[in-house]
Amino acid sequence: MTGAAGFIGSHMVDALGAAGHEVLAVDAPARSLAPDVAWRNWGGVRTAPGVTAVEADLAVDDLEPLAAADVVVHLAGRPSVRTSWGAGRAVAERDNVRATGRLLAACARRPAGRRPKVVIASSSSVYGSAGNRPNREDDPLHPASPYAASKVEVERLAVLAADDGVRTVLLRYFSVYGPRQRPDMAFHRFVEAALDGRPLPVFGDGRRSRSFTHVRDVVGATLAAAGADLPSGIAINVGHHEPVAVRAAIGMLTDVLGVRPEIRREEPVAGDARRTWADTGRAARLLGWTAGVGPAEGLADQIAWHRSLRVREGVRVG
Ligand SMILES: NC(=O)c1ccc[n+]([C@@H]2O[C@H](COP(=O)([O-])OP(=O)(O)OC[C@H]3O[C@@H](n4cnc5c(N)ncnc54)[C@H](O)[C@@H]3O)[C@@H](O)[C@H]2O)c1
Repeated sequence: MTGAAGFIGSHMVDALGAAGHEVLAVDAPARSLAPDVAWRNWGGVRTAPGVTAVEADLAVDDLEPLAAADVVVHLAGRPSVRTSWGAGRAVAERDNVRATGRLLAACARRPAGRRPKVVIASSSSVYGSAGNRPNREDDPLHPASPYAASKVEVERLAVLAADDGVRTVLLRYFSVYGPRQRPDMAFHRFVEAALDGRPLPVFGDGRRSRSFTHVRDVVGATLAAAGADLPSGIAINVGHHEPVAVRAAIGMLTDVLGVRPEIRREEPVAGDARRTWADTGRAARLLGWTAGVGPAEGLADQIAWHRSLRVREGVRVG
């Protein structure tokens, strides 16, 4: 597992450990977009049963131990469209493209028959904005930010690695939320603002919509992809089939919290899709997977996490 100290990665570590797998958990928490949060997650990873935690920077360090696994779940990288502009472009290039290239090269150096299968986190942002139907995996790609472009390049490397005899699977995650969500992400910012009694900071007019996907569903799809026999180099959407407008999500969230939805509008983010919408036919066919957590249940779950952290730590996160 790479990116084990991350939002999605820390949940994956829990799930792999619970399923009885022997897990080598790798991360470089200092490279995180939110190092304080990553270090806190890392504390939990290091003490998880069945888990060996190793600090390593995938863009620099020796990756042979990772390549010796049966399956590598590669979630490490620099997320976020917003922070990928300007100086962030080089960071996305380093931690997404170079890191993935080095990992795949280490796997390709293994003897034939002993190369791991590599499950790689890609993103819905490779599509750009969805039109009037959900995006299918064979739709043309329209990356609109340096982050999205870095994920397109990651996908290209994964397809090339498949030609080199490394089995790869690309999971295109759609706006993931739930407990431990990254502090830069919308729902995290909304819940923290609402709990503080501040207006909710919304980029743009709130009409944007997303196939918001609960982290429990994302973990389920990722485990299924790790275990399934799939064509090498294939991309699979991992997203909820029903997009929800940001405004509608705010309504649900403030209902659960019992507060008035007061909003502070912020400049829209360049390169942010107006709509993401996952066609989940391929995931259903190949993984037997469909998202099961709807937004009302999922948001209540995330809110409960924010509240429990405040009780435990007496402070807000992020
Ligand atoms: N969260 C989402 O909604 C979402 C959507 C689409 C795709 N993704 C992708 O899923 C993956 C996980 O996302 P997340 O939200 O958990 O992000 P995250 O930032 O919480 O986790 C990423 C982890 O990777 C680690 N990392 C970064 N560079 C590294 C390096 N060079 N060497 C070792 N570790 C490094 C970070 O320390 C961090 O712990 C990322 O690849 C992201 O692009 C996430």
